[in-house]
Amino acid sequence: MTTKKVTIIFFSKTGNIKKMAEAIGAGLKNESEKSNHIDVNITDIDKVQTETLVSSNCIIAGAPIHYGKLATPMENFLKESFLNSEVHRGKIGSCFTSYGVDIEGSEIAILTMVQIFLEHGMLVPGFGDGPLGQFVAGALDEQVLANCNDFGKNIADLTKRLKTSQQ
Ligand SMILES: Cc1cc2nc3c(=O)[nH]c(=O)nc-3n(C[C@H](O)[C@H](O)[C@H](O)COP(=O)(O)O)c2cc1C
Repeated sequence: MTTKKVTIIFFSKTGNIKKMAEAIGAGLKNESEKSNHIDVNITDIDKVQTETLVSSNCIIAGAPIHYGKLATPMENFLKESFLNSEVHRGKIGSCFTSYGVDIEGSEIAILTMVQIFLEHGMLVPGFGDGPLGQFVAGALDEQVLANCNDFGKNIADLTKRLKTSQQ
């Protein structure tokens, strides 16, 4: 089986999204160990290389809600780095967010990321949980991290089934 590359890009001001990204990554790696089919990268948007995104078969974006919408650094990053680019067509795009006290704004946050993925011809799977089938969390606890892990496993399973042009 061809190894697929999954990149989790995140913006995290106070660390919650980073912990979620790591738990999602752990779920992906765990699932990958069974068939060794996934290479997982977890990268802050400040450090991500264009080449890493271009060579990924699946991109998962995570950022918190700030002032009732997606934190601006992630919105700007996606708009700028995905601009006029055909290279992401047919890849899986998925996302997650986190809020402090008020879930309001999570739909806007998720939709902002999903819309950019869709505009670039990416495939956005719905997991039937949270706004638009993506992953949304409130206060970070063991249960949230376990759910992040499951989210990663689900994405690993989908990525395994993704056909690439090399196959
Ligand atoms: C500048 C700023 C604005 C925020 N605005 C909201 C908000 O509108 N609604 C909300 O529920 N939480 C809000 N929060 C809380 C964060 O969404 C929440 O703590 C999140 O888990 C932070 O993720 P991070 O630790 O990865 O930065 C805000 C936090 C900051 C720093």
